[in-house]
Amino acid sequence: MNNLCVVLCVALPDEYHPAALERRLRRRLDRPTLDRIDRLRQPVDRLRSMLGRLLLRHGLRLRGLDDDAGVTIGHYGKPRLVDGTAEFNLSHAGRWVVCAISQTAVGVDVEQMRPFDLVLAWRFFHRRECAALAVQPAAAQHDYFFRLWTAKEAYMKALGLGFQRDMASFSVAPRADLHVALDDPQVSSQPYMLSHLELDPGYRLALCRQGQPVQVLPVTLDHLLSLTIIH
Ligand SMILES: CC(C)(COP(=O)(O)OP(=O)(O)OC[C@H]1O[C@@H](n2cnc3c(N)ncnc32)[C@H](O)[C@@H]1OP(=O)(O)O)[C@@H](O)C(=O)NCCC(=O)NCCS
Repeated sequence: MNNLCVVLCVALPDEYHPAALERRLRRRLDRPTLDRIDRLRQPVDRLRSMLGRLLLRHGLRLRGLDDDAGVTIGHYGKPRLVDGTAEFNLSHAGRWVVCAISQTAVGVDVEQMRPFDLVLAWRFFHRRECAALAVQPAAAQHDYFFRLWTAKEAYMKALGLGFQRDMASFSVAPRADLHVALDDPQVSSQPYMLSHLELDPGYRLALCRQGQPVQVLPVTLDHLLSLTIIH
């Protein structure tokens, strides 16, 4: 498993009691993690952030690594394992929480395909991406926009820069086979590979890794709660 890039996914249930779920999740997390998460005002943001950390622990354990390894927040906010035994990245949107774990730097982005304004594309995307979006049939533009957005964000997250990187300074081109071509003029020998993964019809999920085979592991909330130790 350690040569794989593992992508763990968990969904919030259709119906749940946020306060009761938060109580159950809190018991499974350490104080520094909770202190950081408590700065989030919206209950759903706290829940998704907590679930991300539990997915991380579950994934580390599956790899035979210390599932209680500390996490430190690096440059531009990217969390990393203190012991450096693996690289990981988290993303959450709507009901989904995703955690990618790999031996080398990794980035992941999930987005819920809500209605969007095309102006966003003209404002943030590379001119080649805007041109490709403009020639999509009207019915396909929505999906194509989110394929572009998630692929770009997954790359920026793998770099650890997030939105510090100018989105228009590199371009991506999603292909029908779910691979995404990447052109970054700032990099002469590109170590990263981009692809989309199937998750949920209302969402788009992109992964940026350094060539490892990928294994997607959906986890139910109940399973995750049963696996993780209460502190
Ligand atoms: C990272 C970023 C792209 C996330 O965007 P988003 O679409 O709102 O959120 P996502 O759900 O996809 O990802 C959130 C997760 O990304 C991770 N993350 C945070 N900063 C990151 C970074 N610079 N690079 C990679 N991953 C990052 C975190 O794990 C976070 O989840 P958590 O707070 O629950 O642990 C955006 O917040 C960003 O650009 N941050 C950096 C900006 C910056 O300079 N911050 C300064 C703070 S030191």
